Amino acid sequence: MRILVIGSGAREHALLHSMSKDPQVGESDLHVAPGNAGMSELATMHPVQVDDPAACVALADEIAPDLVVIGPEVPLVAGVADALRAKGYPVFGPNKDAARIEGSKAFAKDVMAAAGVKTAHAEAIQPGASDADIDAAIDRFGPNWVVKDDGLAAGKGVVVTQDRAAARAHAADVLAAGNPVLLESFLDGPEVSLFCLVDGETVVPLQPAQDHKRVGDNDEGPNTGGMGAYAPLEWLPEGGVQRIVDEVCVPVAKEMVARGCPFQGLLYAGLAWGADGPSVVEFNCRFGDPETQAVLALLESPLAQVLHAAATGTLAEQPELQWRDGYALTVVLAAHGYPQDTRTGDVIGGAEPGREDEGVLHAGTARDEEGNIVSSGGRVLNVVGVGATLEEARERAYAVLPTLELDGSHYRTDIALPAVEGRITIPQ
Ligand code: GLY
Repeated sequence: MRILVIGSGAREHALLHSMSKDPQVGESDLHVAPGNAGMSELATMHPVQVDDPAACVALADEIAPDLVVIGPEVPLVAGVADALRAKGYPVFGPNKDAARIEGSKAFAKDVMAAAGVKTAHAEAIQPGASDADIDAAIDRFGPNWVVKDDGLAAGKGVVVTQDRAAARAHAADVLAAGNPVLLESFLDGPEVSLFCLVDGETVVPLQPAQDHKRVGDNDEGPNTGGMGAYAPLEWLPEGGVQRIVDEVCVPVAKEMVARGCPFQGLLYAGLAWGADGPSVVEFNCRFGDPETQAVLALLESPLAQVLHAAATGTLAEQPELQWRDGYALTVVLAAHGYPQDTRTGDVIGGAEPGREDEGVLHAGTARDEEGNIVSSGGRVLNVVGVGATLEEARERAYAVLPTLELDGSHYRTDIALPAVEGRITIPQ
C-alpha cells in the first residue's frame, strides 16, 4: 500500500514508524511531505508547502498513493483533504467544513450544544469590542479564567490563570492580532485525551491518554503544544472510554453528519473528568501530539489498514483493534527557550535516523548545509518508553534521554509521575 503522510512532527514520525510495520506496506511505500531529518530511512521526503491544496494534489499525482494521511490541523483547515478527495484519493483526515470542529471553537460549541454534549460555558469577544465590554466579559468569568484564541494556535493560544490581569492581557493580545477571544468557565478534574477513528457515524476509540501541557514540572510555567503523555489511564473509572464515546463522540459524529459535514479521520476529544463524568474542553480534528506517540506504541493492529478503512468508509467492517498489554509514555525534548523564545539551529547529537525502535522520534529537526542534524522547531525530539507498568515505561524513556545532546534543551522529569504515585483524583 503506497502512502503519503503530510506533516513533519513526531506525531507523523510515529505514524510512519507504526505503518512501516504493517504487512501491507512495502519497503519503499512510504512518502512524507515535508518530513523531518529523522524520517529519511523510513520514507521518501518531498519538500512541499503542506497548506497549499494544489501543491499537495500535484505531489499526490506524482506518487499515486493508495492512502493520504494528513497529520496537522493547518492543511486540514486549509482544505487539502477536500482537494485530494476531489481527485479520487482516499484521505485520512476531515474536509475543511468538518475541520472547523478544531478551526473554530465557536463552531465546536454550536455542534456540542446541538448534540447535547457537556462542555464549559463560553462567551466570545469579537475584535473591535470596547475596553468596557472586554472588562465586563472578563468579570462574568473566573477565577480561574480560561482565555482562548478562537483560531489555530498550536496549543499555545490558551491561557488558564487565576490572575485577572493576565487573563485581560491575553484577551487584549488575541484581539489585537485580529482574532476573536473565547472565554470559558473552568472545568475541574483531570484531563483525558481520547482519540477516535471516525467515518461518518462509525466511531472507534483508541486507548485514552493524558497530555502534560505546561512547560515545567508540577504543571508550572506557560502552556505548550504538549511536553509529554502516557497511555492508558489506570485512574479512569471503569467504562470511562465507553462513556466518552456514547456521551461525546457518537453524538458529535451524528451531528456532523446531520449538518452535511460528516467527519472522516481522527476526532480528538480533549476532556476534563469531573464529578459528573466527562466534559469537553476542546476538540481537535487530527491525532494529538505528543499523545499519539504513546498511543501508537501500544497498537498491535496494522495501522495502515485501519486508517485506509476509515478513509474508504469501511471502518465498521474492521476487526476490533488489538493492543499490547502494558503502558507507553513519551517525553518531549524541547529547544532552548521554548515556548516563549525558541532558539533553533543548534546541532543535535545522538539523533541519527533509525533509532525508532529505541523510542527516538524526531519533531523539529532538519539537516544544515554541513549535513548535521539541527533543531528547527520548539519541540525537537520525543522519546517513547514502553513497559509492563507505567513506572517501567517511565524508566525506559528517561534512560534514553541522556543519549541525546542538544545545547540548552529541556524536558519535564515528571511525565506520568502523578499517575504512578496515585496522585490523580477525580472531584467528588
Ligand atoms: N496534545 C495537544 C494537541 O495535540 O493539541
